[in-house]
This record gives sequence, structure tokens and C-alpha cells, in this order.
Amino acid sequence: MSDAEVQISMFDRIGGPVTVDRLVESFYQRMDTLPEARTIRAMHAPDLGQVKSVLKRYLTEWTGGPKLYSVEKGHPRLRQRHLGFAIGDSERDAWLTCMRGALEETVADAAARSDMDAALTKLADWMRNTAGNPHDTGAGRP
Ligand code: HEM
Repeated sequence: MSDAEVQISMFDRIGGPVTVDRLVESFYQRMDTLPEARTIRAMHAPDLGQVKSVLKRYLTEWTGGPKLYSVEKGHPRLRQRHLGFAIGDSERDAWLTCMRGALEETVADAAARSDMDAALTKLADWMRNTAGNPHDTGAGRP
């Protein structure tokens, strides 16, 4: 691979650890205060400290930065970890509203912001687990 083809990770494109930290703080600040996020806020513990720290580690790894999540938690199995919470279209939309505001506020590079938005939208879509989710229409589920 020539120098011109070296891949820059999403982690570096958005601004590394400083941005991940600010992004997650802004995301939960929005979840904590936006009326449209009230339902998903109520799914979380009163103190968001723990989940903030886990999401920072997860996003660091998921964007191609240091593997701070899996060393501690193993394979993310993120959808499975969310099965205890009823996530449908409106919960996904509330989550994305908080995340999009946080991306706007903290990721300066417009192309990186839009790529992050697209990737997180897919992930949030996939997290839905209530009846009628297209991911659950296949066989093999009780
Ligand atoms: C789509 C709507 C979503 C809802 C309603 C939701 C809700 C939740 C809730 C209630 C928890 C548990 C918090 C606690 O323990 O207090 C959680 C954990 C978590 N969520 Fe989500 N989530 C959503 C989407 C996502 C997405 C798209 C990601 C990835 C970018 C994500 C990443 C995480 C992580 C990393 C944890 C911690 C899991 C662990 O303990 O290892 N969530 N989420």
C-alpha cells in the first residue's frame, strides 16, 4: 500500500480520545434533558457514570481506536445486551436524536460526522427488538 492509500481510522478522523469523551458526555447530557428522550432515559440507572464510561470505551474500539472495551467485556454482543430493553422505532429515534445533536456539537469534520452518523444509524436500527422488527422475522426465534 502506498502512503497515499494509508487508511485513517474513524477514531482519528473524528479527533481521537478527546472527541469520544466529549461526544459521549454530550450524548448523555441530551438523553438526560430532552423531553423526547424521557422513555429511554428511564431505562438507564439514575447515575449515568458507569454507562458513560462503558460507551466511551465501546466507541473508542468500534471506531478503530485502542481495544478498551473487549479486553474487559469480551465480544460486544451489543444486540443481546439490549434485549432486556424494549427498543422499537421511537426508542431508536430518540437515541439517534441525542446522538445526532452530540455529533453536531463535537465532531468538527463534516465528512467524518456524516460517516459516523450513517454507521450509528445502521447500528441503532439493528438494535430494535420489539415485534415487527425486520431483523426478527426469520426462523429460529422462540
Ligand atoms: C437504539 C436505541 C438504544 C437504546 C434505547 C439503548 C439503551 C441502552 C440501555 C438502557 C443500556 C443499559 C444502561 C445501564 O446499564 O444503565 C444500554 C447500554 C449500552 N448501550 Fe445502548 N441503547 C440503544 C442503542 C445503542 C447503540 C446504537 C449503541 C452503540 C453505538 C449502544 C451502546 C451501548 C453500550 C456500549 C452499552 C453498555 C453495554 C455493556 O454493559 O457492555 N446502544 N443501552
